[in-house]
Amino acid sequence: MAKPIKKEQRQVETTGHSWDGIEEYNNPLPRWWVWVFYATIVWGIGYTIAYPAWPLITQATPGLLGASTRADVAVEIGAVDAANAAIKEKLVAADLTAIGADPELAAYAERAGAAVFRTNCTTCHGSGAAGFEGKGYPNLLDDDWLWGGTMEDIHLTITHGIRNTTDPDARYSEMPKFGLDGILDETQIAQVTEHVLAISGQGHDAALAAEGAVLYADNCAACHMEDGSGDRTQGAPRLTDEIWLYGGSREKIIETVTKARFGVMPNWNERLSEDEIRAVSFYVHSRGGGE
Ligand code: HEC
Ligand code: HEC
Repeated sequence: MAKPIKKEQRQVETTGHSWDGIEEYNNPLPRWWVWVFYATIVWGIGYTIAYPAWPLITQATPGLLGASTRADVAVEIGAVDAANAAIKEKLVAADLTAIGADPELAAYAERAGAAVFRTNCTTCHGSGAAGFEGKGYPNLLDDDWLWGGTMEDIHLTITHGIRNTTDPDARYSEMPKFGLDGILDETQIAQVTEHVLAISGQGHDAALAAEGAVLYADNCAACHMEDGSGDRTQGAPRLTDEIWLYGGSREKIIETVTKARFGVMPNWNERLSEDEIRAVSFYVHSRGGGE
């Protein structure tokens, strides 16, 4: 319910409009408010002239002051690059194994390498570099290396990649598809699998494994070595530990032997500069498993 109008309000001037006896008060806005309002309009127009504002077809009006946050960022990046130019040069010139001995160089490589890793490597190797076990993406933290864990080995792997078709110098090897290509039949695959289970210290059928040992010597030892210790010149994994690239269960091993595997890593020499490759090599090498 409307309150009854107080006496003093009734004294307010009206605009003279009247609709069915309802009158309109003439209450002007406070002066200060009106001036602030005009000031904001003037400010707004001035702003759109001075700064990028009105959208056109491909870009906005540039503004008289030439302000551009994109250009500001470019200047900042340029300044950082200039500040790092000397140390990058030093990193590229250094002996790979000497990087760790120079504290300043090592600190830079560690930081820059971590950034390169976050941007380029985590999708496949995980944010902590622990890989994705059983999916073919190796853990880079342990001392179990497919292709070698020295600075030179790691640097080569990252530079040229593995089994890719874009770099003729990529690391390459191919495990035969023993099942698909009919080299071994199902029984033989089951037997050799029991032998792999045996040498990796898992539960196995001893009678089948004994048959499998013979098959292993004939078919597998050339790459995985007689004792199953693997061969880094061919990227053939060690089969005697608990670390598995594709999985160490009976089913997974049978699958690997039947169809083989073909882990691919891109080469980075086209996407990263030499100082970035060196930095990330150092980063990987210093994660714990470097040799
Ligand atoms: C598209 C996925 C992918 C990306 C991205 C990737 N890798 Fe790999 N990486 C692999 C695979 C798969 C292997 C294992 C290949 C094999 O089976 O031999 C591998 C292997 C490696 C190895 C060899 C490990 C060993 O045991 O010898 C190193 C070192 C490595 N990667 C480092 C890196 C670094 C550093 C980056 C980022 C610059 C990177 N990778 C990005 C997929 C990738
Ligand atoms: C020509 C060399 C070669 C021969 C011969 C070979 N392998 Fe392999 N094997 C490899 C390579 C290389 C890989 C790794 C593939 C990859 O990284 O994608 C591999 C991977 C494996 C793996 C997966 C290991 C893991 O960590 O997940 C198993 C299991 C395996 N081989 C068993 C065998 C058995 C059993 C035989 C014999 C019947 C055999 N291999 C013969 C080269 C070979």
